[in-house]
Amino acid sequence: MAEILTDSDADLAAAAEMLKNGGLVAIPTETVYGLAANAFCESAVRRIFAVKSRPFIDPLIVHVHSLEQAGTLADISHPFVKKLADAFWPGPLTLVLPKKSCVPDIVTAGEPTVAIRMPVHPVARKILKLSGLPLAAPSANQFGYVSPTCARHVQDSLGERLELIVDGGNCDCGVESTIVRLCGELKILRPGVVTREQIETVLGVPVAFGKGLMESAGEKGMQAPGMLKSHYSPKTRLELFGNVPATAGEKNYAVVWQKRPENTSVPATFWLSENGDQAEVARNVFALLRRLDNLGFEKIFMERSPNSGIGAAVNDRLSRAAAKRTD
Ligand code: TXA
Ligand code: MG
Repeated sequence: MAEILTDSDADLAAAAEMLKNGGLVAIPTETVYGLAANAFCESAVRRIFAVKSRPFIDPLIVHVHSLEQAGTLADISHPFVKKLADAFWPGPLTLVLPKKSCVPDIVTAGEPTVAIRMPVHPVARKILKLSGLPLAAPSANQFGYVSPTCARHVQDSLGERLELIVDGGNCDCGVESTIVRLCGELKILRPGVVTREQIETVLGVPVAFGKGLMESAGEKGMQAPGMLKSHYSPKTRLELFGNVPATAGEKNYAVVWQKRPENTSVPATFWLSENGDQAEVARNVFALLRRLDNLGFEKIFMERSPNSGIGAAVNDRLSRAAAKRTD
């Protein structure tokens, strides 16, 4: 099992030291926990892929402490970078930018671009500051499984293969960062807690959702499509609904509502928030999926979110989690 560190100064110094020495450390961020390594250390980055069983064609996000540090890794001259950074950094927003040659190809899967994010979680910020390094960090889960939103989740899935996990409490956002591509056609590649509506307001232009790299790769036949489409998937079958399934009460099914239901005859009833607040739904969705996945239900039925604002991010994760695995 991995050692769990606290957010004390001594523990964070130990975490930074491990990163400087080419080790891996699972760290809290405001979105989900990340599996971090020195982005300049190819062997450490290679180990991230091994620990997660992640295919090398799926590039990593590099975490930075400042806009200045971002400028050492990528071309940040696009005027939208400053606008978005002023509005949302530090925070749950990732920008895909033209990369500089110092970023190893293994980090970017050979792409000419690099994904950069400046997290706001105080523990992540302290570790970035203490190490002085840009940190490549994907979500700290087995590739394809539900992302971790607390230290226990990381320990459960990767604890055997990892030395250190820093416990920074439960993640505030609960779903991964919004990814915006600023080179080529402007697109949101992954919806998140920073919403499309907020981004359009800041930029003053419409911004469409686009396909992520892995989806595009899947369409080009680069990997088994099942592996790419089904992501964030629990082991238990998940079905999404708009109305409650009539047979739910008779079987070993869990039924999950957006908000606490007023009355229900279904014994295994759960809800994602008290009153349907989408920030709360996002914060709880992965943790609840993980919990239910361990309770032996035959199926989980989950109510979709409204498809706007943060709800778009929740629905994105839910539809991937519910996609049938074909691999
Ligand atoms: O909130 C987050 O972003 C978390 C925390 C740990 O920061 N990280 C995270 O990383 O979600 P990961 O690896 O699970 O997801 C990163 C996504 C991948 O889908 C990858 O394809 C995309 O970012 N990505 C990375 N580099 C890219 C690039 N150069 N162009 C397009 N997409 C990229
Ligand atoms: Mg991930």
